[in-house]
Amino acid sequence: MRILFIGDIVGKPGVDIVTRALPGFRRQESIDLVIANGENSDNGSGITPAIYRKLIAAGVDCVTLGDHIYRKKDIITILENQDNIVKPANYPPEAPGKTWAVVRAENGREVAVFSLMGRVFMKPVDCPFTKADQILNEIPDSVKIRFCDFHAEATSDKQLMGRHLDGRVTAVCGTHTHIPTADEQILPGGTAFISDVGMTGPHESILGRRIDKVLQATITFRPIPFDVATGDVQISGVVIDVDPKSGKGQGIRRIKINEKQAEQLEDELED
Ligand SMILES: [Fe+2]
Ligand SMILES: [Fe+2]
Repeated sequence: MRILFIGDIVGKPGVDIVTRALPGFRRQESIDLVIANGENSDNGSGITPAIYRKLIAAGVDCVTLGDHIYRKKDIITILENQDNIVKPANYPPEAPGKTWAVVRAENGREVAVFSLMGRVFMKPVDCPFTKADQILNEIPDSVKIRFCDFHAEATSDKQLMGRHLDGRVTAVCGTHTHIPTADEQILPGGTAFISDVGMTGPHESILGRRIDKVLQATITFRPIPFDVATGDVQISGVVIDVDPKSGKGQGIRRIKINEKQAEQLEDELED
């Protein structure tokens, strides 16, 4: 079976390309389940209930988030009430949202999804490694396919999480830096791993934001809003092949879908 994981969706350009390309891509690649990180989907920061619903309607089965999770507070009701969206599991227990979700793939298999946050250059949170152990104990044994989005800054931390969970989860895929890494691999225990899958949104940008604005703010220290950019919109993600019985990862490859390809996917679906 196949899982598609989509990296941090940034702003309207990111949401739009996912909406356009996903139905066709799901069919073309025989994808059974789609997980997407939506932490930047509302104007670059946070997610709204409307965007959450739009992503689900487009074919996303489960939404993960990150440090921008609560920027739009209306999402809290969704986090508390829906079973296909998770908060970073090592946030305080008092923080709204669920620590893991079990969603059903198109082939009928159950898949557990959780996310963790790193601690380097990020808000202090509980230890992601011990939290991961705790979550793996909570997920029913019958759910063999287990996916971890590790939302962290440091590649070393991400590799450590991959090794820590190797053989115990199907995949550890990194998010947050918005820059993809080329270290995708199946670890010795059968866990699909990549340090960062990159972002989904305008790539003619600095991490999805307008280059001129970020540059001005960096040089002058003036308070300049980092508007979401518009050029060269692409989906970044990974496709993971999974042995549904054991839950082991069998293959992982990076994917990019640009605007032209999104248009083709849309056209093919209409034919
Ligand atoms: Fe992000
Ligand atoms: Fe982030």
